[in-house]
Amino acid sequence: MISYKNLGLVNSRALFAKSVQGGYAIPAFNFNNMEQMQAIIGACVETKSPVILQVSSGARKYANQTLLRYMAQGAVEYAKELGCEIPIVLHLDHGDSFELCKSCIEYGFSSVMIDGSHLSYEENVALTKKVVEYAHQYDVTVEGELGVLAGVEDEVSAEHHTYTEPDEVEDFVQRTGVDSLAISIGTSHGAFKFKPGQKTEIRLDILAEIERRIPGFPIVLHGASSVPQDIVAQINQYGGKLKDSIGIPEDQLRAAAKSAVCKINIDSDGRLAMTAAIRKVFTNKPEEFDPRKYLGPARDKLKDLYKHKILNVLGSNDKI
Ligand code: G3H
Ligand code: 13P
Ligand code: ZN
Repeated sequence: MISYKNLGLVNSRALFAKSVQGGYAIPAFNFNNMEQMQAIIGACVETKSPVILQVSSGARKYANQTLLRYMAQGAVEYAKELGCEIPIVLHLDHGDSFELCKSCIEYGFSSVMIDGSHLSYEENVALTKKVVEYAHQYDVTVEGELGVLAGVEDEVSAEHHTYTEPDEVEDFVQRTGVDSLAISIGTSHGAFKFKPGQKTEIRLDILAEIERRIPGFPIVLHGASSVPQDIVAQINQYGGKLKDSIGIPEDQLRAAAKSAVCKINIDSDGRLAMTAAIRKVFTNKPEEFDPRKYLGPARDKLKDLYKHKILNVLGSNDKI
């Protein structure tokens, strides 16, 4: 058993309490390789933002659990070396079983999500409670989910949103003991969220109603990529074939971050940014074959994107 406390990581409890009070959200950025990690830590150090490093089960399989743990430990030291000690959470994204959550906790994660949103309400309560009881013994925080987002996550996909039912949140939080709650109010996973021209409104009215039922309780938004149109255009300009799509408007996310939303998950925008930078190098310099010459620009573009999210969308700068 490796305790996250020995790795220099923190759980999300104090960060969320502060963010709910302060009207901003902590960035939760997914990673599975070194360049992403460098971009995340570089952006967060330069803006003095706390950060949640997110690992999906697919990312864990891809990168190896031991390497990921050392990378997170390395991130703590790397931030210090860059000149700023920022709070860093290592979080399991979309955990789908008790066993996976337990294994991550044993490997040094400081926070886990148990996603029982595809189960019946009672099954979701039972599974989430079981994870919470185990995690809290080690002071690991737990995120649960109520409601189903449209889009694809790992192997699970849903065509339509099932909005979170405000009537259920108080009972769920009280019976499970979760530390934060992911809700479904119109965001969705992936880079193909809405067709251009489609209405992209997130349901801030449902969020307000949820807040009224569980005042001050930390709320999480998944599927919060905005699918920047200039980045999609760059990908297609340099040989990509992405179909037209739009994401969640950043001003709506900014409004949500000012409320009890204290964690906002962004993955797809980062994938798009890296792909755009790599495609540009491949097109303009087809003779290039040193991975540093295309992964380096990808890392720089990713870092710029994350700084923009922190400063202009989440508001988590200068909050360490
Ligand atoms: O919500 C899902 C995340 O974007 C992780 O995606 O399962 O492809 O790593 P992944
Ligand atoms: P996006 O696909 O919108 O980036 O959402 C990521 C996410 O919710 C990770 O859990
Ligand atoms: Zn998600």
